[in-house]
Amino acid sequence: MIKYGLIGYPLGHSFSKEFFEKKFLREGIINSHYELYPIEDVNDLKTLLLENPKLKGLNVTVPHKINVISLLDELHDTAKEVGAVNTIKIINGKTIGYNTDTWGFAKSLFPEITAFKSKALILGNGGASKAVQFVLNKLSIPFKIVGRDKQKADYVYEELNKSIIEEAGIIIQTTSVGMYPDVEQSLNIPYEAINNNHFCMDLIYNPEETTFLKKSREAGATIKNGLQMLHEQAEESWRIWQ
Ligand code: ATR
Repeated sequence: MIKYGLIGYPLGHSFSKEFFEKKFLREGIINSHYELYPIEDVNDLKTLLLENPKLKGLNVTVPHKINVISLLDELHDTAKEVGAVNTIKIINGKTIGYNTDTWGFAKSLFPEITAFKSKALILGNGGASKAVQFVLNKLSIPFKIVGRDKQKADYVYEELNKSIIEEAGIIIQTTSVGMYPDVEQSLNIPYEAINNNHFCMDLIYNPEETTFLKKSREAGATIKNGLQMLHEQAEESWRIWQ
């Protein structure tokens, strides 16, 4: 039996195991198993690999997409350029880091954006945000980053005002704020400035409609959650593992 899995912490929100189990059944893949490995400390990856010699591939989620890099033997070019890893391929004990969030996000965003003013605001500056930044750069869509640390972002949340929100046609929520089970939470932004000229996307897919998306929809925006992105990045991970 070949093993695949997901590392991150916590993992109660994740649909990855369900996605791969359904894929294995649908496609008649009989020799593979996908497991959730909730590890709080990313350094536990080493023990996990030692204890599971049949592991051939791992997905990586919050909060390890950036800090896992220093533990890997090699990095694929895209992952290097992005500065974050969400997929690890294991060959004879050697770990190679890839980023398929870029593919997943691009596939998910592409059909939606033409109708909206091509300037973006990215909420968050972690590993998922870095994949979004990479794709927007490739699409020549200018963007500003909102974070909690002024040193690493264009704006902190407290600085956001009506004109900054109106300037952006596309708002991408990349943080884990509002993810199951803390579904009532949402980032503090001026939602009253959002209108029907906005496309608001949340990379979270559980819940289906986050509080960020609900408030954005109620303000008139077109909305999209992270479910298509989850599926696309997972399929791309699978292609890499094969
Ligand atoms: P990963 O790299 O695996 O995506 P991460 O680096 O911990 O995980 O990223 C989590 C993201 O959620 C970051 O963008 C983080 O914001 P900062 O870049 O400002 O640190 C964001 N985040 C987590 N909790 C948050 C909160 N309470 N408010 C705002 N942003 C939050």
